[in-house]
Amino acid sequence: MGAESWKEVLHDKMDAGWAEEIDQFDSQMALRKLGKLGEKVFAETRLRRGVYGQRYDNGKRHDGTADQTLAFADVPTKGPETLWDAPGMCRIKIPFGGVSAEQLEVLADCSEEYSDAILHVTTRQDFQIHYVHIEDTADLMRRLAAVNITTREACGNSVRNVTGCPLAGVCKTETFDISPYAQALMTFMLGHPDVQDFGRKFKPAFSGCEHEACGLVQMHDGGYVARVVDGKKGFKIVVGGGLGAVPHQAAVLSEFTPVEELLPVMQAVARVFARLGEKKNRNRARIKFLVAKIGIEEFKRMVEEERKTLPHDDRWTSLVTDMAPTDNEPTAPGAELAPGDRPDGFAAWFDTNVRAQRQDGYSVVTLNLPLGDLTADQARSLADIARKWSGDNMRTTVEQNMVLRFVSNGDLVAVFEALTAAGIGAADGETIVDVTSCPGTDTCKLGIAASRGLASELRQRLAAKSASMPAAVKALRVKISGCFNSCGQHHLADIGFYGNSRKVDGRTVPHFQVILGGQWGENAGKYGMAMGSVPSKAVPEVVEALTDAYVQSREGDESFRGFVERTGKRSMREIIKPFMKVAPYAEAPEFYSDWSDVREFTIGDLGIGECAGEMVSLFGIEVVKAESQGFDAQIALEEGDFEEAEDLAYRSMISAARALVRLEFIDVTETPDDVVSEFKTRYFDNERFFDRFAKGKFGQYLLDRHATAPDSIDRDIASRRIEESQLFIEAAHACELRIESASILAGAAEA
Ligand code: HEM
Ligand code: SF4
Repeated sequence: MGAESWKEVLHDKMDAGWAEEIDQFDSQMALRKLGKLGEKVFAETRLRRGVYGQRYDNGKRHDGTADQTLAFADVPTKGPETLWDAPGMCRIKIPFGGVSAEQLEVLADCSEEYSDAILHVTTRQDFQIHYVHIEDTADLMRRLAAVNITTREACGNSVRNVTGCPLAGVCKTETFDISPYAQALMTFMLGHPDVQDFGRKFKPAFSGCEHEACGLVQMHDGGYVARVVDGKKGFKIVVGGGLGAVPHQAAVLSEFTPVEELLPVMQAVARVFARLGEKKNRNRARIKFLVAKIGIEEFKRMVEEERKTLPHDDRWTSLVTDMAPTDNEPTAPGAELAPGDRPDGFAAWFDTNVRAQRQDGYSVVTLNLPLGDLTADQARSLADIARKWSGDNMRTTVEQNMVLRFVSNGDLVAVFEALTAAGIGAADGETIVDVTSCPGTDTCKLGIAASRGLASELRQRLAAKSASMPAAVKALRVKISGCFNSCGQHHLADIGFYGNSRKVDGRTVPHFQVILGGQWGENAGKYGMAMGSVPSKAVPEVVEALTDAYVQSREGDESFRGFVERTGKRSMREIIKPFMKVAPYAEAPEFYSDWSDVREFTIGDLGIGECAGEMVSLFGIEVVKAESQGFDAQIALEEGDFEEAEDLAYRSMISAARALVRLEFIDVTETPDDVVSEFKTRYFDNERFFDRFAKGKFGQYLLDRHATAPDSIDRDIASRRIEESQLFIEAAHACELRIESASILAGAAEA
């Protein structure tokens, strides 16, 4: 920038409200620097504007093709304790994934000037730019605001990005184009006074139909499915879905709400959530807990009451009627793909990355972005391609890709060549090769294992086999999260993984829990089942063993989920069992580091020593009982015995708690009252069981269930208890690890 600042240049080129807010953010940053604004207050301010702190792991960043070494490698390194003003991450909201060429160019420039020249597409259609210095965030916001993009409420306890099918408007099976309504909801909710006092975030999603996957409404806090009743457009509305540690399917709030009632109904939902949602305990604060607690019927009644008292707002109707889809104008007339010679690779790319539109002669082209990343140069090339061949029609997708829409079939060869020249012409889009991954330990402070490192490894291995893969295997989805928080949406994949760790041979070994049979279709209709943890380095073999078993045992055109359900959890677990074991360090040191990271693995900054004392083996023996009860609970669930499943899950928590108690009190009885009482005094009340982020969340699961057994038990309650027990057992492992590490460190200090 020359003499004039971006503030001066752009001030009048953006919405006045947005300009004022960004200026305020600038002032708050100045106050923070002077020490006049506390870290907590500033953190809330910055998160509400999409500015996250981040972690710097091994000083490397994969750009989708290769590892780059970061210019910032000397900033405070690994772990959650980075400084407030160290470079962080900016999340940039892209409502329903719609982005124009001009916007993409500005994003590319910003990623280059303020960051490492990489734009990352997230699992909720946002863009993220990492390693942005806090000083640059206000200018970044201004430059984006000048092209009508905001980072406001991209993080924090707010209404997050409104997502929607990337095929909206061009899809063959949609009821109608949801894009204008997604835009209307986003405009209405952004900064609305009724959405400022949530205890937690609220994620909305639109879907043009009930049965495809794109909208994923069932896993959202608020979901809207297009419906037409008696010739009138409207939405089925669902609330209270969500992934995270304990996944919930959303419940139906209304089978049909006409379009002009969409915004007032959602305003009423927001008011009820703000008033009644949990505020103190973050871990129970998502709307899913409120809906589960009071029941959907009561929630519905409250929303209806609230709706009646709302003062009228003209925007309820003006926003939904004035909004027009902005990106449905093609560049060229629809045409046929002309016969003739094709460039190398075209056929494979056409097979997986090109889909016919509802409009004759046009196609949607998927860009298979490795790990969701594209470089600034690639983004600029893509902007040119979009202008030239797709009428500037682009969307980001929840599979961390982008699509070009309204590409005339006559131009497909030229588009393929241009994309290939730009390095974004990879085939295998939306196949097993196109692995989805959250940021994991690369940049997320909560990450346990290297989800991106694993995704990159799997992608390479699967791409090498893609040409010879059976079609049924190719159609599968693999999704990976670095921890139980599920940002990589592992519950929805055929084969999903989330990171955890296990103690072996006195060292910490990165592991991934295997989750099988999630349903991507039916708007994320079913979540996968946990099968057990395998070491990170064994995951590629696990994927191979699972896909081989599927091919060999598949009946007819059975889906992967169908295969998992028919085979049953016990037999499915047998398939992964040979990979669960970790050889001692001396025999297989590679298991003790994570993918894309040569350092020995640790969790947090605690250096784990070599001595595995008596405590560990005693705990190890005891906790096996808890794990096998948890496993039997899953089997009981599969067999439809919900009471047995729930009881076993509860007992598995008791066993894990007892394993911890026995570290200090070997003679504790097996009576649940004794175990819980000892656990509470020794580990819970003094917060030793607490993890630095989840706090007492997982311990509370046991205390609540022990205090009150449910009156009646259905599938939902049993499944939830199983999820809770798995997390409790994980937390017991982590707690034991912390205790042991502390004792090793204390020993080292004394020595
Ligand atoms: C600094 C830490 C974190 C980072 C970098 C991170 C990153 C992400 C990203 C990139 C996405 C895609 C979402 C979007 O574009 O808005 C996402 C989604 C998600 N995040 Fe996180 N996240 C973090 C912490 C958490 C925490 C603490 C939780 C839960 C307690 C969580 C739960 C989720 C869930 C459940 C999703 C996806 C599914 C959904 O929308 O429900 N994340 N996260
Ligand atoms: S799943 Fe865990 S590691 Fe991955 S981004 Fe979310 S919080 Fe971070």
